[in-house]
Order: sequence, then structure tokens, then C-alpha cells
Amino acid sequence: MLIHTPKVLDVQDKKVIVRVDFNVPLKKRINAAGITKFSVADDQRIRSALETILFLKEHGAKIILMSHLGRPDGKIVPEFSLEPIAFYLRQNMGLSVEFANNCIGEEVTTKASALQKGEILLLENLRYHSEEENNDHDFAKEIIKDTGAEVYINEAFSASHRAHASIVGLNKLIPSFAGFDLAAEIKILSKILEKAHRPFVVVLGGAKIDDKVSAVKNLSKLADLVLVGGGIANAFLKASGIEVHKSFMGKNAETNVAIAKEILDAHQTERTMIDIEQAGKGLPLPKVVVPIDVLAAKNQDVKNEKEVIHLELLKNVKDSDEDLDLQYLDIGKETIALYKYLLSKAKTIFFNGPMGVFENPLFAKGSRDLAKNIANNTTDFGATTVCGGGETNAVINACGLRDRFTHVSTAGGAALEFLGGEKLPGIEALKK
Ligand code: 3PG
Repeated sequence: MLIHTPKVLDVQDKKVIVRVDFNVPLKKRINAAGITKFSVADDQRIRSALETILFLKEHGAKIILMSHLGRPDGKIVPEFSLEPIAFYLRQNMGLSVEFANNCIGEEVTTKASALQKGEILLLENLRYHSEEENNDHDFAKEIIKDTGAEVYINEAFSASHRAHASIVGLNKLIPSFAGFDLAAEIKILSKILEKAHRPFVVVLGGAKIDDKVSAVKNLSKLADLVLVGGGIANAFLKASGIEVHKSFMGKNAETNVAIAKEILDAHQTERTMIDIEQAGKGLPLPKVVVPIDVLAAKNQDVKNEKEVIHLELLKNVKDSDEDLDLQYLDIGKETIALYKYLLSKAKTIFFNGPMGVFENPLFAKGSRDLAKNIANNTTDFGATTVCGGGETNAVINACGLRDRFTHVSTAGGAALEFLGGEKLPGIEALKK
């Protein structure tokens, strides 16, 4: 591999800036004084950066951490502030952490200059500046100038598919290294890429449809089967000529459906044979398998089971006036059974993205059942199982399954692109 993790002498007593991915799920609550507070709901991405942070601390580096959180689109959006994460690092990780209300400017310079060996300064959300996503060279220079950073480390594998200033800009200006977790992720995922035992089945869901539809294109070349659920399934259902009513299909719905159709067409004549032991026969399946039934409702926040409708998509779709407002919010019981059966035949499984709006318990069954089933396949059938992505990991953690996968990646989109054989800008930038 052409990327290097830092050695002691590379960082000892130096000011080191680390691009982490602290884009973690936050819990919102309103305190007694009526003030909205956020706290960390899942800390996997924070923990994954700890080895690098502790290494730097141990060797007397002055540590500056920078990250994005959410998609504030170049504006200051308080709910995407990284301040709750500074609090979490102090309270839960026992680290000495100062917080700067910006990622450039005077306050940053003052606080970065005051850092003592082993101390940490966390900068405010990089994406409050549109220059971050625009990969603005001057912005990268400004971060280095204002922080006084002498060494750059990328410890954000999960954001390395973005060609943003903090991912591909700073490395051009000062010596750069890969974080320990980033290097480990590449090693594990490369191993899967090189010799995935077959059948290789990808379970793909989630709401970031605009990003994922294209990733399916590459993944469907590598995988034997791609089982879709969640928001992304809607694009594939629509592309297969199945009505999806008001279901969410991403910002660029039309493009997503067009890409989904392209993928379905490209694999139209391909079939994957899955053994059916009882019948002593093989079952020919299309490359991309779409749900055959769903749970639907008029909105995703419904509280009462009576408001949830079970729809079989291949028959009995009534298309009555009542159906017009429906959104598909979870895969149905027939799909769960079918997917479980197909997964029991898999030797390698990659699980990315929930099968429905799992935050609402009425629509969590598909994601939870498949997560448990995949975890069982690791132990019962010796399958290699990898899951990744913020939402997927939240499902895994909520079900207490974290230790039952072969590998739990911090990355969603980045892992998908990596496994799809694409070159990640952040990794390319680290190659020497
Ligand atoms: C992720 O959650 O996949 C990464 O943090 C990247 O976030 P993004 O999709 O908003 O760029």
C-alpha cells in the first residue's frame, strides 16, 4: 500500500491537524429553561479516531481536530454545531478539549497557539463555509495558517469519497499521513474486494439515494445479488414500473429512477442461481432484487399501527384515491422472509443502509430483522459480514449486534464506492 500512518518522529511535539469524521447522530432535547440541547447518540465514529488521537497525545503533539457535521450548505446552522462533540470528548473520553466557534480566524489562532502538548482543539463545522465543499485552495491555506498546523492526518475514511478542501487540500501543503483507523479500513475492505467468497450479497437501503444509486452500478458488477430496501428501493421499484406514490426518492428523483432503470437494463439477461435444497434445484434471480411487499403510511411519523398499511406490490395494488398519498416506509414480511433466505446462502455480505424509517418503531422491523439475520450468518454459516454507515451502525448498536459482524465500518457512502472499485479522492491524496 502506498499510504503511510505516522511514526513517532513525524508527530512528536508538533502541531498536528487531524481530519476526523464526527458526523455522528445527535439526540435533541429541550431543557427546563426551554433551550434546545444536542448530545451524541452514537459514538462509533468518535471511538474510531481515538487510536490516532491517543497516539498523538502520548507523543506530545498539539492536536487540532476538524470535521463536518450534517449538510449545512455553507451556512451557520446551529443544529449542526460540533460543540456537543467537544463536550462528549471531555465527559466521556476524559480528554482535555478546547472548542473554537469557527474553523478559521482569530479565535482559532489564539486557541491553537495556547495549546499545550497533548491538548486538543476541536474546530467548528467545516461545512459552515461553502469553500470546504468547493475544495477551495485558499480555504485550505487559511486553515493551515490560522491553526499553525505542521502535519496533516486524514482519519476520516467515511468522508474520503468527498473531494473537499479538508480531505484533498491540506495534504498538498504540509506533510500528510493516514490515520490508523483509515489504514485499517482500507486493509479490511481491500481484502473483501480481492477475494470475496461467493455468493457475495449486498443489502442496500437508506435515504442517501442520490449518492447510492450510482454506487449500485459498480457494486452490481462485483456482487452476485443486490437486495434493495429503504429509500433506494423506491427508485428501483419505480424503474421496474411499480407505483410508489409519495415515497421518498431523493432530491433528484427523475435522475435516480433513470439510473436505476439503466442498472436494471444492464443486468436484464443476467441471472444468479441460488440453490433451493428442498427442491434440489437452483432459483434464477435478477441481479438487483426489489421488495415484493412494503409497509406504507401517509407520513413517516404515524404513531398508531392502524395507520400502517401492508401492501403486496406484485398483486392487489389497488391504486385507489386513498393510496395516492402513501409513502413506502419499510419492507414487508414477505420481503423480509425472501431476503433472509437469500442471505442464508451468502458467503460474503455487505450491509449498508436501513430498510425503512427505523427511527419510528413501526417501521424498524425490516432493518432489525435483517441485521440480526446477517449477524447470525457470521456465526452459523461462517459468512464474512461487513456493515457500514452511520444509520446502519445505529441499527446494529440498538440491536446489540456490534460484535457479531466480521467488520463494522465507520463508512457508508465511502465504503460503497470503495467496494464498487472507485478511487476515493481522500485516499488518492494520501498516496505517496
Ligand atoms: C457520511 O456520513 O457518510 C460521511 O460523513 C459523509 O457525509 P456526506 O454524505 O454528508 O458527505
